[in-house]
Amino acid sequence: MREGHTTVTRRLDYAPPAFWIDTVDLTFDLDPTKTRVLNKMTLRRNPDQAAQPLKLDGDELNLARVLVNGQGTSFRMEGEQLVLESLPEGHEPFELEIFTTCNPEKNTKLMGLFLSGGAFFTQCEAEGFRRITYFIDRPDVMASYTVTLRADKAKYPVLLSNGNLVDEGELEGGRHFAKWQDPHKKPSYLFAVVAGQLVAREQRIISRSGGEHLLQVYVRPGDLDQTEHAMNSLIHSVLWDEARFGLPLDLERFMIVATSDFNAGAMENKGLNIFNTKYVLAKPSTATDADFDAVESVIGHEYFHNWTGNRVTCRDWFQLSLKEGLTVFRDQEFSMDLASTPSARAVKRIENVIDLRSAQFPEDGGPMAHPVRPDEYLEIGNFYTSTVYEKGAEVVRMYQTLVGRDGFRKGMDLYFQRHDGQAVTCDDFAQALADANPDSDLPRLLPQFKRWYSQSGTPVVKAEGNYDAAARTYTLKLSQSCPPTPGQPVKEPFVIPVRLGLVAEDGRDLPLRLEQGSLSQEQGEPTGSMTYVLTEPQATLTFVDVGSEPVPSLMRGFSAPVKLDCNYTSEQLLRLLAKDSDSFNRWEAGQQLGLRVALNALSSSANALPERPLDDAYIAALREVLRHPDLDAAFKALVLSLPDDDYIAEQMEEMDPQRIHAVREAISVQLATELRDDWEWAYEQYKDTGAYQPDPVSSGRRSLAGMALSALCVWACKTNDAVWPGKAYQRFKDAGNMTDRLNALGALLNCGHELAERALTRYYELFRAEPLALDKWFSLQVLTSDRSGNILPIVQKLTRHPDFSLRTPNRARSVLSSYCHGNLAGFHRLDGAGYTFWADRVIELDKLNPQVASRLARAMDQWARLAQPYRQAALAAIERVAAKTDLSNDVREVITRTLAAEATDAPSSEIHEDSNSEQKANS
Ligand code: TRP
Ligand code: ZN
Repeated sequence: MREGHTTVTRRLDYAPPAFWIDTVDLTFDLDPTKTRVLNKMTLRRNPDQAAQPLKLDGDELNLARVLVNGQGTSFRMEGEQLVLESLPEGHEPFELEIFTTCNPEKNTKLMGLFLSGGAFFTQCEAEGFRRITYFIDRPDVMASYTVTLRADKAKYPVLLSNGNLVDEGELEGGRHFAKWQDPHKKPSYLFAVVAGQLVAREQRIISRSGGEHLLQVYVRPGDLDQTEHAMNSLIHSVLWDEARFGLPLDLERFMIVATSDFNAGAMENKGLNIFNTKYVLAKPSTATDADFDAVESVIGHEYFHNWTGNRVTCRDWFQLSLKEGLTVFRDQEFSMDLASTPSARAVKRIENVIDLRSAQFPEDGGPMAHPVRPDEYLEIGNFYTSTVYEKGAEVVRMYQTLVGRDGFRKGMDLYFQRHDGQAVTCDDFAQALADANPDSDLPRLLPQFKRWYSQSGTPVVKAEGNYDAAARTYTLKLSQSCPPTPGQPVKEPFVIPVRLGLVAEDGRDLPLRLEQGSLSQEQGEPTGSMTYVLTEPQATLTFVDVGSEPVPSLMRGFSAPVKLDCNYTSEQLLRLLAKDSDSFNRWEAGQQLGLRVALNALSSSANALPERPLDDAYIAALREVLRHPDLDAAFKALVLSLPDDDYIAEQMEEMDPQRIHAVREAISVQLATELRDDWEWAYEQYKDTGAYQPDPVSSGRRSLAGMALSALCVWACKTNDAVWPGKAYQRFKDAGNMTDRLNALGALLNCGHELAERALTRYYELFRAEPLALDKWFSLQVLTSDRSGNILPIVQKLTRHPDFSLRTPNRARSVLSSYCHGNLAGFHRLDGAGYTFWADRVIELDKLNPQVASRLARAMDQWARLAQPYRQAALAAIERVAAKTDLSNDVREVITRTLAAEATDAPSSEIHEDSNSEQKANS
């Protein structure tokens, strides 16, 4: 049997468990093909629940023995559940002993107990513990764990589990044991075991409050030189959580272990975080600046879960955003606080918003759209989404915007005061924030604010400004709407904090005086920036004493996860781009200008693309940013990166991927050509960053220099210049760090220069023994835009490469996700061959690893918006997958939802003017 349950789980069906499990004593005899697990639990009936049989979850376990209070007992199987009916009456605790075996070597799903490079690892979130032993595998059952690990000492010298090491020693036959005790109660999804040949970087620290702790980062013996950045990130995380939120490390020992076979990024198991090597290992010669940043934020993320997730956990999996949205918010704040300069903070914010828009907005506009707190699922693994994580983080950020930073801290304090040690809901979190801020607007707004948890879809805020010179007034009409999403045809108005300013001709913010109504001004905000909380379908703001016509700067800092629709003229956007005091909106103005150019080119009925899509004023504005004496390189690089294929595609009712890509290419070529001298200046100006440091200033310089080199190579290949490709090749060879090396290689690949092949061969020779660097070798070839018209043969060849493997998620993704998710024009071919390839790989991968397969299945999310002939071919491929009768629940759920998009017609992310009139009045 492949799956234990094939039924939908609904949020409103929640009922507390019939039994509580107080203690769990596990003994493992670790063996690759037959691991024995003895599980001794103390249970008692939940007095609040009517008498029910005990149902224990299991998955692919071999059951050998069940004893109740030391005696044999009757039991039966209901699917994969073990059901015990004849249990002691009353509410007294009783002992249950279960002996099972499992086969880690056969575990290609990487859920439960599995092997990676000969070592044992576990992954229990969300429902993997049931693959280790029979259990009430749900997060509201919290128990105290004692774990004894026994294994061959030579093969598995390191034996780890949660908490503190309380005993260890030798056994007969070259075996040894270690006994661990977790001082904190925890849900089963936070359980972890690691056993193998590992070495650790160690650091003892004294926290602000004087506590002593041992921090350890475990890796394979050869990788110790790549752990310094991870350790520093962990130390920063410990200090930051104590400083910003007053949350100390509650363990004597905190361990991180890296594995190269992992379905996701990392896992916050109590005291024993398990990480994908990608988010631990970093050294300048193989990791890019982006990798260094990702290590820092994922280490922070998992560490911060220790309070937001572990000390206070989720009552049920529908509350996932309670821990994930909040913890993403915390890791974003952590990275921003570490960034130190205002410009570097703004860059972090922009990067987060780019991620949200490129992944979450399409999700919210597609067949898998779901609320931050979903209402039902077939497979919970499918709901670890950017909606739950990144949109969830924006929802948390809006609380902070509404009550201020200090108010938010008060809310967090109350949340922990009330709920430490409990399994709770998103409502409990919201209530703590409101109760801690009785004098703010939050208590009054809360019922409406919570629609962010229940309504899916990305709201649209429409803004229209009007200046009356005679009356010296500026009127701003705001309205909100939200397109229909699966199961939610009509939406009610959201609470939308609109941070705004009025920008004068010289770039200064005009003082904001409202005729009526109120604006709340946040403490510490520069005067001239205020937050208006939009709660109605529409509202009109009239500003008085406005001496000259301003340009409204709206949704400053991206104050809510919405799309802004404002009828700006190009001149107005150019003013914001040149002068807005809000860095985010300065960047955003440039993006909107670029988007407009692309959409204009795409909407023209002419088949031929415009020769010069960008006009002179825009080119001049970009040149000014590039040459600006004061702006940071990282910010310049973001402004000069115009919207990519996917972001453009997301704006269109019907999309033609080949045409989108052609327009995007035309824009790139024009930018490369007309700013040629400026790119050369920028390259010379920024290319030297000295000895490698991953700090924001030097990484910003590398980023801009890399863009410049890429543009120069594009120009060179158009004009048959040999100098710049030569320089790029030289830089590729001499690079002192992976960022510069990869940028140079990318520049050669993107312009299709023949030196690219030579560079690729050389790269392979250099890095064939370094898995993470080799992943980049695979993905870079797949992501390259130049060959995207015919990248599929290269993709197919790469899947036959001896270093390719479907079983290692990182490697599989480096080719398959890069192709299906990352190369719009390469994947969406006129002949539909990309879709055929996709269907074959989804089916193949599903047999090995359903979680990875279902992520790949999501590559077809947007099929219903495709133009013909893509659409027809896409549908045929999806139907072919759907026709398989033995799909996992994971893939089945995605494919079913994807196909349902047909019935609702093309879900549109356009503005639906009429949805306003459908909106009911505010409750
Ligand atoms: N809870 C983890 C995090 O966000 C991620 C996670 C969820 C995960 N499910 C997983 C990791 C399955 C690996 C496998 O940090
Ligand atoms: Zn998380």
